[in-house]
Amino acid sequence: MGSISLPSPQTTFLQTLLRHQLLPSAKPSLDSISLIGRTAVITGGSTGIGLACAKLLLSLQLPHLIIAARSSEKGTKAASDLGELYPKAEVEFWCLDLNSYESVRLFARKCASLSSLDIAILNAGIMKNQFHANVSTGHEETFQVNYLSTALLAILLIPVLKSNSRHGPGRLTIVSSVAAVTTDFPEKDFVPIIPRFDRQDNWSSAVAKQRYDVTKLLLLMLLFKLSCVVKAEDVIINAVDPGFTLGTNLFCDIPLALKVSMWPLAKLMATSPEKGAWTYVDACILRGAESHGSFLSDWQVNAYVSNSKMNRAIMPVSSADHTSFHPIMYTPEGESVMDRLWEETINELKCDEFEKSG
Ligand SMILES: NC(=O)c1ccc[n+]([C@@H]2O[C@H](COP(=O)([O-])OP(=O)(O)OC[C@H]3O[C@@H](n4cnc5c(N)ncnc54)[C@H](OP(=O)(O)O)[C@@H]3O)[C@@H](O)[C@H]2O)c1
Repeated sequence: MGSISLPSPQTTFLQTLLRHQLLPSAKPSLDSISLIGRTAVITGGSTGIGLACAKLLLSLQLPHLIIAARSSEKGTKAASDLGELYPKAEVEFWCLDLNSYESVRLFARKCASLSSLDIAILNAGIMKNQFHANVSTGHEETFQVNYLSTALLAILLIPVLKSNSRHGPGRLTIVSSVAAVTTDFPEKDFVPIIPRFDRQDNWSSAVAKQRYDVTKLLLLMLLFKLSCVVKAEDVIINAVDPGFTLGTNLFCDIPLALKVSMWPLAKLMATSPEKGAWTYVDACILRGAESHGSFLSDWQVNAYVSNSKMNRAIMPVSSADHTSFHPIMYTPEGESVMDRLWEETINELKCDEFEKSG
């Protein structure tokens, strides 16, 4: 289900994080899963949770996996190591650099040439400390990689998943973060909104961390819009939070002092890339149409509330264990931000044909 029927969250980020990390819900069993006959793509698949997920998918008998990575060295190594571990599977490395729209479009075209594509997991993401403007687009790098280019890839892969999935609806899972739910989102009032993300003034480590959180919120807003224009019968689209995970490169760029201060809490709470990978498989395989338009964290569906404007069906959910979305997404103000963001995103990505076909 996708909804907006759950109440907006009443907990702070720390409360949510502590509950998810220290008192997690029970992991669903993967025993019943067999991915025989399917083809999957995972972005950022050469390291971290993406690599762990690649392994997990292959262990579930996936016969064809495409590792999308920007570094050919890391991508080739990951594909060859995985190919040795799972010799019956075809594991390929395809280049994808989310700093370049051209690379995203080329990658999507290559995906369209596959005889089938069943699953796409958009996992690649960054958390930068310094301000970097993308050379070709001028957009700040975290915003470019985590939001704009990920949005473009999602939009381009949807028709491919719709027409080329051989095992029921195509599956598109976007990796967000629970940090998205409590961020301040200071850019929300700006019209237009996209140029606001390119401003360097008052940049600091705190702003950089907030930028990461906001890009993950923008992905949830994108998810909501996509789930309104794409039917679950065609492609089931959801988002997932892998949980606070150590043993990946995500936090490499944060200042040393912050790393040191976070360390005791991180050691106490953080989980492994393998557990994060499990959440991806839960989202993109185990969950069905009920998860369309929804955000999963701590193994739970965090559902959108339906609203009359979007004319979406409200499906029954138990709200007992659910954490919901960012509070702004439940308000008329948030609806207008989502409309503005969607329109500007479609213009930026030059995806008008998608909007019309929706
Ligand atoms: N770790 C956590 O606690 C946590 C919590 C919540 C959500 N997440 C999300 O989980 C996802 C995976 O993170 P992780 O922890 O596994 O971190 P990671 O090890 O840094 O993995 C991120 C992946 O994204 C790739 N990537 C970065 N920039 C790219 C670009 N321009 N083009 C293509 N690929 C690019 C990286 O490739 P390179 O190796 O070439 O850099 C890497 O493979 C991210 O979306 C992250 O935001 C993580």
